[in-house]
Amino acid sequence: TAALQQCFIRRAQNHTAPNAFQVQASFKVAILGAAGGIGQPLALLVKMSPLVSDLHLYDIANVKGVAADLSHCNTPSRVRDFTGNDELANCLKDVDVVVIPAGVPRKPGMTRDDLFNINASIVKTLVEAVADNCPDAFIHIISNPVNSTIPIAAEVLKQKGVYNPKKLFGVTTLDVVRANTFVAQKKNLKLIDVDVPVIGGHAGITILPLLSKTKPSVTFTDEEVHDLTVRIQNAGTEVVEAKAGAGSATLSMAYAAARFVESSLRALDGDSDVYECSFVQSELTDLPFFASRIKLGKQGVEAVISSDLQGLTEYEEKALESLKPELRGSIEKGVAFANKQT
Ligand code: NAI
Repeated sequence: TAALQQCFIRRAQNHTAPNAFQVQASFKVAILGAAGGIGQPLALLVKMSPLVSDLHLYDIANVKGVAADLSHCNTPSRVRDFTGNDELANCLKDVDVVVIPAGVPRKPGMTRDDLFNINASIVKTLVEAVADNCPDAFIHIISNPVNSTIPIAAEVLKQKGVYNPKKLFGVTTLDVVRANTFVAQKKNLKLIDVDVPVIGGHAGITILPLLSKTKPSVTFTDEEVHDLTVRIQNAGTEVVEAKAGAGSATLSMAYAAARFVESSLRALDGDSDVYECSFVQSELTDLPFFASRIKLGKQGVEAVISSDLQGLTEYEEKALESLKPELRGSIEKGVAFANKQT
């Protein structure tokens, strides 16, 4: 376990981790939708974090067994289960990071936007409870369509008078994880070294990997750029089709979400060198929300990294312009939904 823990933390920290045993467990994390396909492996990975003292698992059903099972792992955090709306407030009290993977996943032939009708209401209800019980927490939203659920969450938090744009995050880490994996495979690079910023949003063409900004510096043919971009944009659909009706990405998503949780906890713990991509309120473009690299600090988003958008290739410039109308539409749909309901 110690070796795994260290490996996991080192990966999340890009090799700069202190010894895992020196880390003080002190943060409370809640997962809403914890009994689901993402929720369960995510809970396991968060249970492995030496930074977590309390792990609160919430779902509308089946969460008792998940918590009992996990609670036997001899890692520091105490696991508690919470079922149904009556127990939601207690689940959220004093929590530092709330992760929301609640909602329905895609089936073959569905777009993320097809999930809107069900997931929009789920996210709205859960974020209302977050606003009432832990308004200072970092809020990580995984539930799709992220391009709309983040604007919904922002509106709900505004209505409650507790919106802090620096602490609301759309989880797009899986796009980066996929981009890193596919680029490393294609160019035969050591996986741990590869970092590709992914900007825009989290659906189809709104997912824009900036391959020209890949670290370490690497050159691609036009064909490679096109093939990699399309594969990264459709990677979720690759999994949906392979699962053939049994859901969408859960294990890689849990891995990615756990990395984002760990990065957030390191930032909260005072590490001043934490960068991730996320879909956040942003002034980088003329869109109100946009995914880009951000610097994380104790207060949430400390800086939105603008340098990635400078010196784009012609291909990237074009792709950026063509994603904007779709992303704007998804954002506006979320805002309209949140305001129609009040
Ligand atoms: P799942 O159906 O396996 O699990 C969802 C869980 O949410 C279930 O346990 C269900 O009981 C729970 N749930 C439903 N309504 C709830 C409510 N009101 N409060 C609390 N929990 C509730 O689905 P899976 O595969 O875990 O996916 C969850 C979401 O994550 C989907 O919306 C999916 O589209 C999204 N997703 C996002 C990705 C990203 O990159 N951001 C990647 C993959 C999936």
